[in-house]
Amino acid sequence: MTRQDQTDTMPRQVPVARTDELQPGQRKLVFVDGRSIVLFNIEGGIHAIDNSCPHNGASLASGRLEGSVLRCPAHGLRFDLAKSCEPGSGSLCLRRFPVQVVGDSVLLQAESA
Ligand code: FES
Repeated sequence: MTRQDQTDTMPRQVPVARTDELQPGQRKLVFVDGRSIVLFNIEGGIHAIDNSCPHNGASLASGRLEGSVLRCPAHGLRFDLAKSCEPGSGSLCLRRFPVQVVGDSVLLQAESA
């Protein structure tokens, strides 16, 4: 593997929000590399998920949030944003993206283009 190959596969930190626009209880829809991603602030913790329900692809940006549980507006499946989904558990898993708060910026870890 060349140095260029390693650079191409390294994750990037992309600024997607300011902390003052994503207060607890708020959400924000962002686009990174053409992908639609929804950010949620749940009790101070920032969660970033793909804006596509793993059941049938409905947008999750307008889903009803009860605590940390997001309800898909299409067919009502529920996803707990505070819990990770174990692959092979038999349940549908959200695609999640790591986020980090640095100063007053929310940075999303995106794959290299
Ligand atoms: S598309 Fe989300 S529950 Fe069916």
